[in-house]
Amino acid sequence: MKVFGDAARCYDLLYRDKDYAGEAQFLHNLLQCHFPGARTLLDLGCGTGRHAAHLVQEDYEIHGVELSGPMVARAQDRWQQLAPDRAGRLTFSQGDLRTIRLGGLFDAVLALFHVVSYQLSNDDLRAALVTAREHLKPGGGFIFDYWYGPAVLTDRPGIRVKRVEDEAVRVTRVAEPVMQANDNLVDINYQFFLQDKVSGRLDTFQETHRLRYLFKPEIDLLLKETGFQHLLCRAWLSDQEPGFDTWSVYSVAKK
Ligand SMILES: C[S@@+](CC[C@H](N)C(=O)[O-])C[C@H]1O[C@@H](n2cnc3c(N)ncnc32)[C@H](O)[C@@H]1O
Repeated sequence: MKVFGDAARCYDLLYRDKDYAGEAQFLHNLLQCHFPGARTLLDLGCGTGRHAAHLVQEDYEIHGVELSGPMVARAQDRWQQLAPDRAGRLTFSQGDLRTIRLGGLFDAVLALFHVVSYQLSNDDLRAALVTAREHLKPGGGFIFDYWYGPAVLTDRPGIRVKRVEDEAVRVTRVAEPVMQANDNLVDINYQFFLQDKVSGRLDTFQETHRLRYLFKPEIDLLLKETGFQHLLCRAWLSDQEPGFDTWSVYSVAKK
């Protein structure tokens, strides 16, 4: 079963309240603070391209890479709605961030909204970091966020139900997590119910998303192994040190 296959149909609706504009502003500030003058960005695991669509407004040139075909298709739909000067600075391709080689160098690489936690084995993680390094100019930056181990183990994931709707569809998503203690993994078994509001037709499907929670010492080790300097490890959208209550953490690394 593919992740972000059928689920791509309702991804933007499920996360319509996520503050992508605010996150893009936060990233812009972070980029210009640590990598002044950065203008070219590679967004690994770009999903439906929502960060990219906001970042082009800050004059960045962005290329997004995404594994899921349906997610790339949605990113392309969003791209078509941008003004031509912005659309001209944004491109997408479908590919696996562990192996893709685009043949170009960027000022900074991003991997946002837990993309790195979708890389499960040590080899997958290392491959993702090598891809980032291979696409960076010397001195370039890599910014990525991930599930933070100390918080995941303190406040373990439980069963959750999310309901959202728009004028066309009503979505219910039930999440049942199962923890794999010895691999630092969580299997989130999602059951989706999509009801068409006009026809009343109900579609249901399942996806299991497997995510890895990470600890600072292993991020330190992997970054060092792959030729990065780990500049910063902080609670997402803040300058606070992460702790037992910080599920989402970001790192800033320099090539
Ligand atoms: C939670 S979504 C985040 C998407 C987007 N960055 C955002 O902020 O909305 C995680 C994304 O990572 C992508 N992904 C996971 N593993 C990948 C891989 N090996 N190569 C490319 N994309 C990957 C998934 O397909 C999915 O779109």
